[in-house]
Amino acid sequence: MRISTGIEGFDDIIQGGLLTERVYVLSGPPGSGKTTFGVQFLAQGGAMGEVGLYITLLECPQNIINDMSNYAMNVPTLIKMKKLLFADLGPRMEYGYMDELNEFITTDYNVGRAPVESEAPAPSIVFKEIASYVSEYDVKRLVIDSVSAIRFTTKDLSLQEKEMSRFIRNLKKLGCTTLLLSEMTDPTAYSTEQFAAHGVIFMHNFLYDKTMTRAIQVIKMRGTKHDCNMRNVSFNEGGLKVEGYLE
Ligand SMILES: Nc1ncnc2c1ncn2[C@@H]1O[C@H](COP(=O)(O)OP(=O)(O)OP(=O)(O)O)[C@@H](O)[C@H]1O
Ligand SMILES: [Mg+2]
Repeated sequence: MRISTGIEGFDDIIQGGLLTERVYVLSGPPGSGKTTFGVQFLAQGGAMGEVGLYITLLECPQNIINDMSNYAMNVPTLIKMKKLLFADLGPRMEYGYMDELNEFITTDYNVGRAPVESEAPAPSIVFKEIASYVSEYDVKRLVIDSVSAIRFTTKDLSLQEKEMSRFIRNLKKLGCTTLLLSEMTDPTAYSTEQFAAHGVIFMHNFLYDKTMTRAIQVIKMRGTKHDCNMRNVSFNEGGLKVEGYLE
């Protein structure tokens, strides 16, 4: 089954919408529209009676709620109706997760005691929190902002990849349609989550002929006929809008 993303002009380029119960990565540089895309996607589900959950790991949910309430997405109403939920897994992780970490990380991970300030939330702990929200509130659409904040529990690159693959494999079993937001500075350097996901969408915001240009691009979408070309993106009163091919 396919569901509408709620992004005007986007469903048309992916055969009508996203296949449900799959995990997608939305990568882009700062300010490219990842959060807007994510909230718009949840608000679309909320308008159809589905519960959407937005997990923040970096930003305080209240800031996101304030910013997104400027758009005609009915964010405050959907929150009141409990169709749009925000959960902050950030600060508690920053200060209190080391004790829990010992319980969840197996010896297979071979995690050494790296300096605390270099460590980020462990995927297993983040997953456990998300899974309990999903079953408690019957969540259908999930956004995690951002997966870049939960990548590093170890400095060993191969272990990082293993942990990320395991995290995504577990997310795939949750039964939600999931968007993993990820930070991207180099569009040619692909990351583990992009390989592991069912689909990958890039948001761009770049300087072209003295003008900043916004664009969106479907890099991969398993089971879907699409092209990989860039399309113009603009912000309007409803949020993001996808337009024609970039010239
Ligand atoms: N009403 C608006 N009209 C036009 N552009 C807007 C409007 N509101 C916000 N923006 C643009 O949206 C950008 C923020 O979008 P968003 O928060 O979705 O990006 P992001 O990719 O999540 O950023 P970050 O990497 O910082 O999390 C702002 O930097 C601004 O350029
Ligand atoms: Mg954001």
